[in-house]
Amino acid sequence: MGRTLLICKPDAVERGLVGEIISRIERKGLKIEQLELRQLDEATAKAHYQEHDGKSFFGELVAFITRSPAVLAVVSGPEDVYAIVRSMMGATNPAVAAPGTIRGDLAVSVGENLVHGSDSLEAAAREVELFFPGLAQ
Ligand code: RTP
Ligand code: MG
Repeated sequence: MGRTLLICKPDAVERGLVGEIISRIERKGLKIEQLELRQLDEATAKAHYQEHDGKSFFGELVAFITRSPAVLAVVSGPEDVYAIVRSMMGATNPAVAAPGTIRGDLAVSVGENLVHGSDSLEAAAREVELFFPGLAQ
């Protein structure tokens, strides 16, 4: 069994696409283990996106992810569930994300691309612990 963190970003909540996104995850056969509407504070957003600290888009990214509530989900499934969710999300830039993916079907902007998903087993463990501490025990 594996777990991953999925975030329906503020644009997804604002556009009323949370149901569509969560529905795709459920229809795929994955399990929603935790689900919460939460507005991220700046410190949490910076910790979450620490790998991008120093890049040109970091300030914009933190401002975007904190601007209004997001929906945080812990999704469980097979060991590689993080990779399944990543493939359902599509490429970071929705302009090149394949049709059939969340970003390919529903988004146009790299800055507002609807979803975040952990990108490795290590990132999944770290991000689940950051947003839902103690879940692993
Ligand atoms: P995420 O972390 O949000 O799931 O997205 P990702 O793995 O597909 O992409 P990542 O490289 O981790 O980048 C995080 C978010 O930063 C924004 N970004 N902007 N302007 C740019 O070149 C640029 N590159 C990345 C995107 O919103 C991306 O989702
Ligand atoms: Mg990423």
